[in-house]
Amino acid sequence: MHAREIKKGIEAICCVHWERRLFDSLIPLPDGTSYNAYLVRGETATALVDSADPALRDELMEQLQGVDNIDYVVSQHSEQDHAGALPDVLKRFPSAKLLCSEKARDMLISHLHVPEERVRVVADGESVSLGNKTLTFIYTPWVHWPETMCTYVPEDQCLFSCDFFGSHLATTDLYVTDQAKVYEAAKRYYAEIMMPFRAIIAKNIEKLSELDFDMIAPSHGPVYDQPDFILEAYKDWISPQMKNEVVLPYISMHGSTEMMVKHLIDALTAKGVSVQAFDLAVVDIGKLAIALVDAATLIVGTPTVHVGPHPAVYYVSHLANLLKPKLKYAAIVGSYGWSSKAIEQIAGLIPNLKVDVLGTVLQKGLPDAGTFAQIDILADNIAKAHYADELVSGTGRAV
Ligand code: FEO
Repeated sequence: MHAREIKKGIEAICCVHWERRLFDSLIPLPDGTSYNAYLVRGETATALVDSADPALRDELMEQLQGVDNIDYVVSQHSEQDHAGALPDVLKRFPSAKLLCSEKARDMLISHLHVPEERVRVVADGESVSLGNKTLTFIYTPWVHWPETMCTYVPEDQCLFSCDFFGSHLATTDLYVTDQAKVYEAAKRYYAEIMMPFRAIIAKNIEKLSELDFDMIAPSHGPVYDQPDFILEAYKDWISPQMKNEVVLPYISMHGSTEMMVKHLIDALTAKGVSVQAFDLAVVDIGKLAIALVDAATLIVGTPTVHVGPHPAVYYVSHLANLLKPKLKYAAIVGSYGWSSKAIEQIAGLIPNLKVDVLGTVLQKGLPDAGTFAQIDILADNIAKAHYADELVSGTGRAV
């Protein structure tokens, strides 16, 4: 790949990691990812914004081969996928100063052993002139680390947004060409990385909206030459409004929990409530995270293993607790062999979720008519709660 111009004097250096399938040994990357650095050439100075993951340091250095001099290297975020190749860049351009936020300074020194004397802290709102271009630094903490900042070039109305608005997509597309594809990838990214910080994200979006930009150049995925697309999506995801949706992660060992889950899905669907169910034996947790962005209700379906919930349910409950989705309601259903503390144990795993529990149905052994009647009542309670919150529109549905 070669560096490509996105504005006169600004080039995108996209290092595409086609084969990467896991981030942080946790987050699935079904479509790979890219690490985007940006080269800004002014009349009197040149700056490089961010670098790349160490796995693609050679690719980055190759794209920088024809560059004679870099005066400033901007580190917007200290995580490896942005900053990991900074030591190589600093070595290659020995007179370059590394510009970063106050909080990033210590992180870059401790995480990457960047030489202290190369680092220069820039303040929130501070500008550095490159001659006919200016870099203005905007602190945007907690998207998703505390030290993160964006960089704005007012002369070109260009905003380098770092992880903010990013999408994990391995692509040669410089700009967004397939909005639906990028929307899904960006929502997955938001759900997995940004969702726990949506209150501060709202403040950061407000702060950025004071700038006049017509291009957002993120560190992952294609550049937004129509930024409203992603700004509107983010505003929707962070809004307090929930949708008439249930997210139902479940797992079944001998089929009983599955029978209960399937009955519940039918009952909810008949009442006009949308359900996204995820079999935890085969789940893509990214898809589950996406579903949690808008849902009003979480229902967990679990068998009992040695008195507690199935280990896969432990995992997903802990994950939901970390992601802090909007969620207003919860419920638990499942089957057990001889005794169960699954409900109490799941409740203990989700202290961050401020949910009203609308019901629990725990069945010893095979479900029967009595079990299904309890599930119908649970579905009724959920639908009524969604209707009461005006999440459900339309007519002709029995509640
Ligand atoms: Fe793209 Fe927070 O790393």
